[in-house]
Amino acid sequence: MHTSVSNKISLPKVFLTRILPDIGMKMIHEIAEVEVWPERLPPPYEVLLEKVKGKDGLVCMLTDQIDAQLIEAAGGSLKVISQMAVGYDNINIAAMTAKGIPVGHTPGVLTDATADLTWALLMAAARRVVEADKEVRLGHWQTWEPTMLLGVNISGATLGIIGCGRIGQAVARRARGFNMRVLYHNRLRLPLELEQSLDIKYQDLDVLLKESDFITIHTSLTNDTYHLFSDVQFQMMKPTSILINTARGAIVDPEALRKALINGQIAGAALDVTTPEPIPTDSPLLGLDNIIITPHIGSASYQTRAQMAMMTASNLAAGLKGERLPHCVNPEVYA
Ligand code: GLV
Ligand code: GLV
Repeated sequence: MHTSVSNKISLPKVFLTRILPDIGMKMIHEIAEVEVWPERLPPPYEVLLEKVKGKDGLVCMLTDQIDAQLIEAAGGSLKVISQMAVGYDNINIAAMTAKGIPVGHTPGVLTDATADLTWALLMAAARRVVEADKEVRLGHWQTWEPTMLLGVNISGATLGIIGCGRIGQAVARRARGFNMRVLYHNRLRLPLELEQSLDIKYQDLDVLLKESDFITIHTSLTNDTYHLFSDVQFQMMKPTSILINTARGAIVDPEALRKALINGQIAGAALDVTTPEPIPTDSPLLGLDNIIITPHIGSASYQTRAQMAMMTASNLAAGLKGERLPHCVNPEVYA
């Protein structure tokens, strides 16, 4: 269906910092006059400042810096910011709220995909899957060996979950199938019935660090969680333990992690997020065998990315019409 020229003139103007999965593009083209940044890399900040000028809506990614200066550059027309991600630490929410601009995000639809990837990393690290694959490709597989590529058991081990929101809880549900003991730490303790149905136990951070065989991070990045894992925390962890991070890179101090892996304070790590992103190819972490690093692919399934794109389009559509966003980060704007 083509919109007529006269209709088109009245359509709101939006800028997209990347091409979304088809379903999202289709939805947005039906409701707005679209300008999209077509490159693989995100638009440089200076370009973004230019592009938002006079727009009614902005669709952005976690790779875009959305701050007070950008809102000034946009001028008075901007009605909505719709981010295709659940996390929004790249956006200065206070600055948006001050201007009365609602910010949309995509919670819920990526919970299972991210929990799945967390388990993929946990299992790969426990059983050294990435190293093992490399050994085969290098021609090092000469025979079955009694002590070749030994890892650690997952079944029966203790799992520590840091941050037990939607994703942390989805990770906990999967742990039941492995007969694990599951501890969690969260800002707020969960209701007792939920703890019981998930079969998880609240612990102080220190106790969780000392007792867990696997520790997995599912908090958002805030001033409180920045470098939550630093020298002191690694010193408390078991030398046999494995750290998994699919949340945000800056929750872990990379230099402290490097030392912990080299000095044997922990046995291994698996990261889907780093600081900075991308991790520089000369990062000392990439020289270590006991770490697995994937390029921030927690939500990267066909189904999930399509759902995220649809939710991004729905938030945008509501914002352009002046309606309440279905998934709003700063509902204070409606107060
Ligand atoms: C990805 O990290 C997201 O926040 O959606
Ligand atoms: C993110 O969606 C979380 O609440 O864990």
